[in-house]
Amino acid sequence: MTDRYAVFGHPIAHSKSPLIHAAFARQTGQDMRYEAILAPLDGFAGSVRAFIDAGGRGANVTVPFKEEAYALATTLTARARRAGAVNTLSFAADGITGDNTDGAGLLADLTRNLHRSLAGERILLLGAGGAARGVIGPLLDAQPATLVIANRTVARARALADSFGRDDVGVCGFDAIEGEFDLVVNATAASLAGELPPLPPSIFAPGALAYDMMYGHTTPFLEFARAQGCAGADGLGMLVEQAAEAFFVWRGVRPDTRPVIASLREPPPAAGWQEART
Ligand code: ATR
Repeated sequence: MTDRYAVFGHPIAHSKSPLIHAAFARQTGQDMRYEAILAPLDGFAGSVRAFIDAGGRGANVTVPFKEEAYALATTLTARARRAGAVNTLSFAADGITGDNTDGAGLLADLTRNLHRSLAGERILLLGAGGAARGVIGPLLDAQPATLVIANRTVARARALADSFGRDDVGVCGFDAIEGEFDLVVNATAASLAGELPPLPPSIFAPGALAYDMMYGHTTPFLEFARAQGCAGADGLGMLVEQAAEAFFVWRGVRPDTRPVIASLREPPPAAGWQEART
């Protein structure tokens, strides 16, 4: 019987996950189906349970249900605990396992697709919400020389750094960013609103990469980086890589992400900003 998977969100119509997983399944010869399910805002757990009853084997979870998915899981992976959110659920007779592949997706895109070695690099992370929290653990694991979290609300960045128990993580507001960085990751929601955090232009070191966790069009952040002569990447690669990691969790097979990323890049990206996470 064909195994069933789904992505739950609200809204969900924009999701590229069904397309991505269908491509992975074709490529690896896996007998599976993956659909998008619009869960009611007050009915996430019920929707998931109905899907399990109908034979669902696993699911991705996107905005605004990642914290509810965290609560719904009966077992959490270490990386889900660190992220404080779940984007990948696996269903078995003895319970629901919650995982989070967003951070692994970012790291895979940076290292495998963009050929960055993060060890010893100076990393600036913009934002202190769920998107930032999801990637801090894997960024720290890559052993950068420094990691600084800059956020509009400094207290939120401080709380985030503290929650990782790391006093070597720097914290500041946008106007107090000091020095230059080899990698600047925009995990704020500013691009969604077509806005740019008020960043000093001097933050990019020679050879630096500016990475926006959004994709869709050139974001104001990437335009800003380009104006400083800095290379940029949007979050499309992360989107496909976090999906590949979820696919691996479910099926034990790693798809080749390159042709899938390439096919999503053409025709031109859809209008509007999208989040790189599931
Ligand atoms: P997400 O899950 O997408 O991270 P979130 O938890 O609401 O969403 O966090 C949004 C992040 O984007 C926060 O860091 C927020 O800054 P504050 O903590 O000060 O609210 C940041 N953000 C949102 N809009 C922004 C803007 N226009 N300029 C700069 N930062 C912005």
